[in-house]
Amino acid sequence: MSQPVTKVSLTGIKPTGEPHLGNLIGAIRPALKLAEQYDSLYFIADYHALTTVRDPELLRHYSRSVAATWMAVGLDPKRTTFYLQSDVPEVFELTWVLSCVTGKGLMNRAHAYKAARDRNIEAGEDPDAGVNMGLYNYPILMAVDILIMETDVVPVGKDQVQHVEYAADIAGSFNHLYGDAYSFKIPQAIVPDTGTGHTLPGLDGRKMSKSYDNTIPLFLPENKLKKLVRRIPTDSTPVEEPKDPDSSAVFQILEQFAPESAADVVADTRKRLEAGGMGWGELKNVLFEVLNTELAPLRERYEELMRPGSELDTALAEGAERARARASRVLGSVRGAIGIDR
Ligand code: TRP
Repeated sequence: MSQPVTKVSLTGIKPTGEPHLGNLIGAIRPALKLAEQYDSLYFIADYHALTTVRDPELLRHYSRSVAATWMAVGLDPKRTTFYLQSDVPEVFELTWVLSCVTGKGLMNRAHAYKAARDRNIEAGEDPDAGVNMGLYNYPILMAVDILIMETDVVPVGKDQVQHVEYAADIAGSFNHLYGDAYSFKIPQAIVPDTGTGHTLPGLDGRKMSKSYDNTIPLFLPENKLKKLVRRIPTDSTPVEEPKDPDSSAVFQILEQFAPESAADVVADTRKRLEAGGMGWGELKNVLFEVLNTELAPLRERYEELMRPGSELDTALAEGAERARARASRVLGSVRGAIGIDR
């Protein structure tokens, strides 16, 4: 069998909310860029979402909505293997195997679990109050997502780097025990750089994040989008005074969002703010226009993909088949290595 020459890039997207501008800029665009050079596998981590999303209707909706978003903004399912985690049952079999080579102490130190414990201790509760085993085992499932596809690089946000290091650790434990028969590839996280060195501000000026409830969802109707843009905070600098674009949340969003085709608008707006004479209201109009021009056609495509029986379903079915073929090849080798084969 011939070895693939290109390296493998894989990432999982947890469907726990409506996709927003921050996701587009921080995760989706960089991952699509990587897909140009890597053998890419991107999937919807629906079983990871289960640790927090307990409403079946909502989980269904978010899974579909996140998948439709990635395709609407340019994921090509012919090039990228695009699938639902839950469509690859091999993942869950390997999860048990890797649980058996993972130290409990390692899991005790995982950020998300430790943060939950610290919060409980702070509040005088039992340290494990409200912690389910899904939260506790989360890093193992994620390690499996990565390792079962023989991944080289994992594009993720800073908050997920520890999880990728755990995947590397867990792979190391397995390889140490069974490496003569089968060795996992050791994965590496890559944290995309969005270029400007700033984080994307949200509607309250803090980092745009679902947990702050300050996001601009990607596919809002036009009038709602306009309203949200108006809500972004500005100071009281009068129209005629010079303004610092780099300390304006509105300008930051414009600069980080703007596609190549709007580069001149961004440069021109920066100059006009610095010169004085451009008010925040006008800046917000510019932002709205740039957002809407870019997003309106994507919104239409998104709505098409959301319809039952759309191209999205075909893409995910094909993706599942390709993903399963890879996963079962690796799982087969693992079973052989550990002595569970006949
Ligand atoms: N834990 C990731 C997040 O919260 C989602 C995820 C699940 C993931 N499995 C993955 C990311 C595998 C990268 C690789 O964003």
